[in-house]
Amino acid sequence: MAFTLPDLPFDRQALEPHMSGETLDYHHGKHHKAYVDKVNAAVAEKALGGASLSQVIRAAAEQGDTGLFDNAGQFWNHNFFWQCLAPPAGQRPTGKLAELIDAAFGSTDRMLAKLKEGSGRPFRQRLGLAGPRRRRAEDRLAPRRRHPGRA
Ligand SMILES: [Fe+2]
Repeated sequence: MAFTLPDLPFDRQALEPHMSGETLDYHHGKHHKAYVDKVNAAVAEKALGGASLSQVIRAAAEQGDTGLFDNAGQFWNHNFFWQCLAPPAGQRPTGKLAELIDAAFGSTDRMLAKLKEGSGRPFRQRLGLAGPRRRRAEDRLAPRRRHPGRA
């Protein structure tokens, strides 16, 4: 069965003014859809039908198929990304995430303040984490951030 483009988990304008409906149309309707279509074409070509997306990513890595690896990785990344966003509704971390945030920053509010403090600096520095580190093997294998249609 072919992969399908998942629906956004919220209305396309639900994140405005931070992220416009037009931006979501672009990243979901164009980028994400292009990754789905490219993965489906490659899966059909390589007889990987029935494989999960994770299995396709692993197979592409094992076969050194960087095109499929990048497209399947970006398909996965976009699936994950939409699940990380939600309209403002006062959400607070709970469970293990809340425990880890409290342990590292003292509270969610302190973590948010720290993020705002350093918003112009690299992400690791914003969180007060150590400087650049050696990339792990799985990071080095991660797909490059690339969008279809861009040079
Ligand atoms: Fe995108």
